[in-house]
Amino acid sequence: MPTGSKSKKLVNSERLWNDLMSIGELTQKDQPYTRRAFTPMFAQGREWLRTKFVEAGFEVSQDAAGNLIGKIPGTTAGAGTIMVGSHSDTVPSGGRFDGVAGVIAALEIGRVIKENGIKFKHDIELVDFLAEEPNVYGLSCVGSRGITGNLSSESLAFTEPGGEKLSEAIKRVGGDPERISDAKRSDIKAFFELHIEQGPILEREKIEIGLVTAIVGIRRIEIVFNGEADHAGTTPMDLRRDAAVALAETIVFIRKIAEEFAVIGLGHFVATVGVVEVQPNAMNVVPQSARLVIDARSESRELLDRFVEEVTRSAATAAESYRVSCDGPKILSDSIPSICDNDLRILLGNCAKDLGLTTRELASGAGHDAAFLSRVAPAAMVFVPCLRGKSHAPEEWAEPTALAAGANVVTEAMIRFDAI
Ligand code: GLV
Ligand code: MN
Ligand code: MN
Repeated sequence: MPTGSKSKKLVNSERLWNDLMSIGELTQKDQPYTRRAFTPMFAQGREWLRTKFVEAGFEVSQDAAGNLIGKIPGTTAGAGTIMVGSHSDTVPSGGRFDGVAGVIAALEIGRVIKENGIKFKHDIELVDFLAEEPNVYGLSCVGSRGITGNLSSESLAFTEPGGEKLSEAIKRVGGDPERISDAKRSDIKAFFELHIEQGPILEREKIEIGLVTAIVGIRRIEIVFNGEADHAGTTPMDLRRDAAVALAETIVFIRKIAEEFAVIGLGHFVATVGVVEVQPNAMNVVPQSARLVIDARSESRELLDRFVEEVTRSAATAAESYRVSCDGPKILSDSIPSICDNDLRILLGNCAKDLGLTTRELASGAGHDAAFLSRVAPAAMVFVPCLRGKSHAPEEWAEPTALAAGANVVTEAMIRFDAI
């Protein structure tokens, strides 16, 4: 139940919005909105955030996994931590809301706590997780993997095309990969993440607050076809070993099987081939090799296993048809589907209702740091509507009132959780 004077402290909607727009200006100018993890622009964003955290009076630190943390110590030693946050990195040509809306909401929530002198028994931590989006090292959710003990030495050895290891990149942004186990936390009693929905449901149904039930598992799968480079003008069609044709056939198969899996009643299923590389990539040369990376997502692990089996069979058939060889499928990463905490979802729903907001439950087809947090702590997510459900694109948009509503729900839930 609400605890008297502590309850219903509202965020400053205008300040939240202005901060979000300000950090949005820290983008690669020729490619709005781009602030990819580990780049100089990302470092500028981090510096901006660090300054805001300091100005707000938080105790600021960075953990071994490179997460930026602002802390408000609680009144009761050993009560544990209520954590709230998301990520400030973007995809290339992304938007101004994905991830960073949750970080700025956390900043604003922290400010409301400080300004109102609200005393929490728990420590409060406002977090910007490192590198949630896929990056040049080939791993997403780097910081949230680290904070939950899921950043393996094999992952730390992942290397970008220029030769830098992920461990070196983490060190470069202020983490301490040699002591990565220090980042692992066991004191988190509740984790909250506010995020734009990145889909069309809330807007379509005119619902103000989405209460997330589950977050899809994401499997990233690489297949490489190897054929033979030849002259594009003189090599007869029946003598070619064209790797790109096997790739094309495989992509079409992936589309068809994903369409089938999406409607068989086992929840959300999607698959995308977003990376395609052909070598030597020349107009007048028969392609020698062709690489694709699949991003497959499902609430059901069993369905992801079936998907990999089907794609394996299809790729082998395509390779045989076009007389090329096939390496893979190789699983590059595999995050398990996550269930959000029931009690926290009910708490968030009650807070929303008491704030006069409409809600519905929904699953997330996007990956989130909360998926990793849910492995070590009760974790919950609040979605707010975004324009036409568009995300990972510059047109991404959410209304100031929608963001403030989400932040108010999280603030209220933190206050009530602390009082239990
Ligand atoms: C994260 O943004 C994802 O790819 O779902
Ligand atoms: Mn994203
Ligand atoms: Mn995100």
